[in-house]
Amino acid sequence: MTSIIADATLAGRGKGSYDWAYKHMGTLSKTIDTASSQVNFHGVKIGVCLHITKETSVLVMGLKRLGADVYLAGANPLSTQNEIAAFLASEGITVYAWRGQSSSEYQECIRNVLRGSPKIIIDDGSDCHITAHDEKEFVTQEYFGGTEETTTGVVRLRALEASGKLKYPIIAVNNAYTKQLFDNRYGTGQSTFDGILRATSLLIAGKRVVVSGYGWVGKGIAMRARGLGALVSVTEIDPVRALEARMDGYDIRPMGELSREGDLFITATGQKHVISKEHFAKMKNGAILANAGHFDIEIDVSGLEIISKERKTVRNHVEKFTLDDERAIYLIASGRIVNLVAAEGHPPEVMALSFSNQLLAAARIFEKHEEFQNKLIDVPTDIDELVANNALEAMNIRIDSPTEEQRAYGGSWRL
Ligand SMILES: NC(=O)c1ccc[n+]([C@@H]2O[C@H](COP(=O)([O-])OP(=O)(O)OC[C@H]3O[C@@H](n4cnc5c(N)ncnc54)[C@H](O)[C@@H]3O)[C@@H](O)[C@H]2O)c1
Repeated sequence: MTSIIADATLAGRGKGSYDWAYKHMGTLSKTIDTASSQVNFHGVKIGVCLHITKETSVLVMGLKRLGADVYLAGANPLSTQNEIAAFLASEGITVYAWRGQSSSEYQECIRNVLRGSPKIIIDDGSDCHITAHDEKEFVTQEYFGGTEETTTGVVRLRALEASGKLKYPIIAVNNAYTKQLFDNRYGTGQSTFDGILRATSLLIAGKRVVVSGYGWVGKGIAMRARGLGALVSVTEIDPVRALEARMDGYDIRPMGELSREGDLFITATGQKHVISKEHFAKMKNGAILANAGHFDIEIDVSGLEIISKERKTVRNHVEKFTLDDERAIYLIASGRIVNLVAAEGHPPEVMALSFSNQLLAAARIFEKHEEFQNKLIDVPTDIDELVANNALEAMNIRIDSPTEEQRAYGGSWRL
């Protein structure tokens, strides 16, 4: 690890990637510029557990510019970009991360972040929040509060809140309109195919692509699969979303049926074992599996291993499982978050929106933590609107404002 962190050549490459991301994250640089006259994190320790990508480096450097003392770990053992870790370390950030960690090394890096006694925790997936709540070493530490980046993290925190054990306020950044609508949908939609194409280099047109889950992420993936010429099928458990998928023009059926027909399966549910042994048993020879959900639980990889006589890597990020009847099933990125393991995660333009929300939510926690209850809080509307306005400005897009007459009409109950 130290060799990665201290590698000046890597750090130089990381600086190039940081500059590239910064240039394409006008929304975030505008948010940071505005915050620099209003937010003073001087002397505040912030623990950050995010996928360590070029986009994250722009957020971390922004937090540093506002005075924060940042302790950084990854949000997945396989997603860290070493050049970015090295660049941030060379800029004085305390970094505990490298690509290809074991699960225990990954967990230990999160503990190291908490050992720095951060007052605010910015998390993605809630491994850091859960560790702060669950492990004896950290439960007595005092925190102002935190933020959470993704749907799966928010689901876990809701369960923690329901158990009455949430011990500091957390803003659910994932739930901001300016996050879900763009990051989950357009970001994941594009970067999932970026990962699949880098790993397989195959044609998508004409293939039957089965997308599991028609939430924001699933919608984005289905949309991009269709754009690439695939025959797109969707699986769901929620009747409203199933109906939405149907009216958006997709074929919607149970996984039990579609498992026979799919060429490429992509999970985006946040749920466990959405593709399992009963499905592998029916799959075509050569079927390809990828997961875009946060954790590597959506595809039952150990179940696949049990029914296979051989598991071997055939290309970077592609493993072949050979079943007893000689059928081959290919798994991308070991079933981990495909866009971050096999590609570089979301494009900078969408992460600029998500991370503007993160930065402003962390600032709100800093300002108001004494007023907030120990609850999961939605992103305040003024933050969502500010991020949208910053994004429009960064993209040089102008919109109308309501006239006086329209304002009066909108505020009146008489026609
Ligand atoms: N890859 C990325 O960069 C990225 C980005 C954002 C979110 N995520 C993750 O992607 C996952 C989905 O996020 P989202 O925002 O779309 O969530 P969401 O809650 O909006 O959608 C999930 C959908 O999956 C459906 N679902 C649940 N169990 C299912 C099952 N067994 N079969 C079929 N469908 C099922 C739900 O009904 C829901 O409609 C989460 O784990 C989230 O954290 C990943």
